[in-house]
Amino acid sequence: MLKSTGVMIRSGTDAIKTYYKHRAFEYDDIYKLRRRQADLAWLRRWVTRHVKGKTVLEVAAGTGYWTQVCSRSARQVVATDYNANTLTVAAGRRLGSQVSFVTADAFRLPAFETRFEVGMAVLWWSHLKQREQEKFIAQFLSRLAPGAKLLLVDEVYRRGTAKNPISRLDRFGDRYEIRVGKDDVLYEIVKNYPADDDLKRALSDHCDQVRITRLRHFWAISARVKVRQ
Ligand SMILES: C[S@@+](CC[C@H](N)C(=O)[O-])C[C@H]1O[C@@H](n2cnc3c(N)ncnc32)[C@H](O)[C@@H]1O
Repeated sequence: MLKSTGVMIRSGTDAIKTYYKHRAFEYDDIYKLRRRQADLAWLRRWVTRHVKGKTVLEVAAGTGYWTQVCSRSARQVVATDYNANTLTVAAGRRLGSQVSFVTADAFRLPAFETRFEVGMAVLWWSHLKQREQEKFIAQFLSRLAPGAKLLLVDEVYRRGTAKNPISRLDRFGDRYEIRVGKDDVLYEIVKNYPADDDLKRALSDHCDQVRITRLRHFWAISARVKVRQ
């Protein structure tokens, strides 16, 4: 907890988990914004193409908007999230027997029986502190097969449309926002907007064939998990 002028602000690693727990039932509103529809249509086609016929592990799947997109062309999708109630919303989409849901922390994924051909995380990277990125990526990729595809999508900063202003930058360069939760609690949430060089650097030890596409509101990365000799 942070105390500022008597107001309690929830911060730390659990803040994002609790904040999204309370947002589960209105989270999909972000996909209804008119200004985002052209980008979202592009991203749906991009995801559909990359996962076609593949086994997919998704982390921080939330309410399953992108799980649903995957379900239409992937062979198998395992969608994970820390919050069981976001996955309940996702399960309500009735996506078919090729899709399963597992409550799991993105930093402590279970050992699965097989390694997946695609790993996907949408609107998750921006919530990682820079010093957490290596820990996350190393264990996420350990659940994927060598040569598997990594798909990351997140938001581009747009002045005027980013509704939550920056509250502070820490000494590591991580950017924070104060958000009002649906439970009327204030949360301090990490929200980073990395440059292409930051993204390439974060992936360079683990991936090759890194391709970054910047749309108006989102960036999208496809990369290949390195095949070690
Ligand atoms: C911004 S939402 C993105 C949801 C979904 N991927 C989408 O794009 O619609 C972030 C998600 O991360 C989940 N989350 C937060 N901390 C997590 C953690 N440590 N491990 C796994 N999921 C986490 C939240 O429950 C929430 O569903």
